Amino acid sequence: MKGKFIVLEGGEGSGKTTQIKYLEAWLRQRADLGFTEIELTREPGGSPLCQKIRQVLLVPDANEEMQNRTELLLYAADRAQHVEAWLRPWLNKGALVLCDRYTASTVAYQGYGRGLDQTLIREINHIATGGLEPDLTLWLDLDPEVGLARAQIRGSRDRIEQADLQFHQNVRSGFAALHQQQQLTNPKDLRPNPEGLRPTEGQRFIRIDADQPIQRVTQDIQSVCDRVLKVWAQS
Ligand code: TMP
Repeated sequence: MKGKFIVLEGGEGSGKTTQIKYLEAWLRQRADLGFTEIELTREPGGSPLCQKIRQVLLVPDANEEMQNRTELLLYAADRAQHVEAWLRPWLNKGALVLCDRYTASTVAYQGYGRGLDQTLIREINHIATGGLEPDLTLWLDLDPEVGLARAQIRGSRDRIEQADLQFHQNVRSGFAALHQQQQLTNPKDLRPNPEGLRPTEGQRFIRIDADQPIQRVTQDIQSVCDRVLKVWAQS
């Protein structure tokens, strides 16, 4: 696989959809970082077929409540299609792929939010991805109360946004746990390791403070990506 895979994650209203577009625009001006092809995509809904699955997942149905395992499997179906039909071909061509959400969202939302078993989530994620992991995940961390208030200003709430505050607090704990498990670092600590100039395993999931003015968040993301992409270019 010649390309690289960067994911933005975060709770509702964390600003990742805006920030990923800024990141794409900034990367397009940085040919020096070594990528001529950049693909911007998202989960759920990263292709025409995935868009249909997104509709089923997010549009509330007044007649029937979706079960948690159904929800988990639909996110997995969206991901399996996205990975096989789009992400792998792009990465095989050497593209830099930017994706709005990926497997960490399933751990946080279906695992910590809905309370489904973590081993089950890991297994399903593995089946869906065939083992394709991001090279870098940026987690835009924000207090869910602030995030939900922002999301509300945007308009009507989708099925997941309608869950209560406790659910969204649990989702945040899920991202925080992933961050901790991987001994994750702060952007300032991100430096090449002495041997291979590769970011170490523990530097793959970075927390970005999203409770800052938009421009500051953009700068933090750029500064992490600048450093990581330079390391990749040398390896
Ligand atoms: P978005 O609105 O940020 O595109 O995401 C759609 C919603 O889907 C959001 O509320 C988070 C949720 N989600 C999950 O619950 N599990 C997942 O695996 C993914 C990718 C998203």
